[in-house]
Amino acid sequence: MRESIHGQWSSRWAFVLAATGSAVGLGNIWKFPYITGENGGGAFVLVYLLCIAIIGIPIMMAEIMLGRRGRQSPINTMHTLAIEAGHNPHWKWLGWLGVVAGFLILSYYSVIAGWALAYVFRTATGTFTNATPDGIGSIFGNFLADTESLMFWHTLFMVMTMIVVARGVAGGLEKAVKFLMPSLFIIMIILLGYAMNTAAFGAGIEFLFKPDFHALLYYTDDFGVERMSWNPVLIAMGHAFFTLSLGMGAIMVYGSYLPQDASIAKTTFLIAGADTMVALVAGMVIFPIVFANGLEPGSGPGLIFQTLPLAFGHMPGGVFFGTLFFILLTFAAWTSSISLIEPAVAWLVENRNMDRMKASVVMGIACWLFGLITVFSFNIWSDITPLYMFETFRDKTLFDLLDYLTANIMLPLGGLLIAIFSVWIMHEDASVDELNMGEGLTYQIWHFLVRYITPIAVIIVFLRAIKVI
Ligand code: PFF
Repeated sequence: MRESIHGQWSSRWAFVLAATGSAVGLGNIWKFPYITGENGGGAFVLVYLLCIAIIGIPIMMAEIMLGRRGRQSPINTMHTLAIEAGHNPHWKWLGWLGVVAGFLILSYYSVIAGWALAYVFRTATGTFTNATPDGIGSIFGNFLADTESLMFWHTLFMVMTMIVVARGVAGGLEKAVKFLMPSLFIIMIILLGYAMNTAAFGAGIEFLFKPDFHALLYYTDDFGVERMSWNPVLIAMGHAFFTLSLGMGAIMVYGSYLPQDASIAKTTFLIAGADTMVALVAGMVIFPIVFANGLEPGSGPGLIFQTLPLAFGHMPGGVFFGTLFFILLTFAAWTSSISLIEPAVAWLVENRNMDRMKASVVMGIACWLFGLITVFSFNIWSDITPLYMFETFRDKTLFDLLDYLTANIMLPLGGLLIAIFSVWIMHEDASVDELNMGEGLTYQIWHFLVRYITPIAVIIVFLRAIKVI
């Protein structure tokens, strides 16, 4: 049995909280509603839920298992476990794929988290009190046009992330999540109470839960011709990876700090369940507000910044609840961002002999610089759409492309390779031993899903999305 040089979670609960902290973030509250809105609602949600069940949960178990067995950064864990299984150490490149994905994601994640930070102050100063939908829309538009302001908040958020990462596993990461997660959940429930009292609660719920596969799979092109595309299915699958923090080693590295006696299956169910709940509640809050105010569900990344302020502007105690909400959203993003960079930091500590402090600063600065691409995508570079020649990517800015590349390609690809490694490469006695739940039905189901269903599902969705099959 190996030990991690980076320390260990103080208990199974600390791990559950940290991993839930990683999973619950902007993905649930910011991204899930806007991509659901863009992709037609209920059918998209159904595909996403299916992906969580048959791809996300099995892969999360696999990642935690690999992490705990290797007890190092994902790059070194993959290297060690490949050698242990008598295979090629090149599997370490899977770790690298994850490190690069985490770096790219954090570069834009920090910019969006900066929006949440900025909105803490806007809400607190009463900017939205009694504001109209148009007024709120133009406040958001002006904010995005203000390069310096976006840079300021991006900087602040990146510094916050680096501080926690520098403090390490038990000191930094664990403390941060302990009270943040429960508080976030409570405020979401309060908001749900507000949404239930809007006239459009029924319409919002219908949009979210009534599947319309035509709206998911068909779109009308420039010539008015109806066409089919699996791209939305790929987006739903990519989001299952993104929201559960899978496919890039974040959960793997957290698993490497997990005490030996904790049950991997049980913790996985808790984490995935909490994450899914938060996303669905967020949807149930946002869509009724969208429909009650005649807003456009497919309006893109600005959706929550244009809907929730309306609720806060009109509900009793809105300044208080609104400020609290954006504080908690910032915290949710914070506990996710630290896990995005942890695989890279752990590797620098292991292989480059850096202390955590230095490793965090180096990564933070690099990531901050890269994040400027996202900042500019919303203003001075908003017309730059390098892949305009492909229909799917025609209007996509550099930020959109970064998001697409990481969430819909890199994470599922990482997940596919993790699945292949866990059941085709690693010996079965090793996975039985590490999962520690015997060889009964639960293990058999897991093994079957990871061996066949997960890889085949990911491959089919990939191939259909690029129209090969
Ligand atoms: N799961 C996070 C969210 O939903 O906001 C984002 C994320 C964190 C993705 C960590 C990937 C990751 F490794």
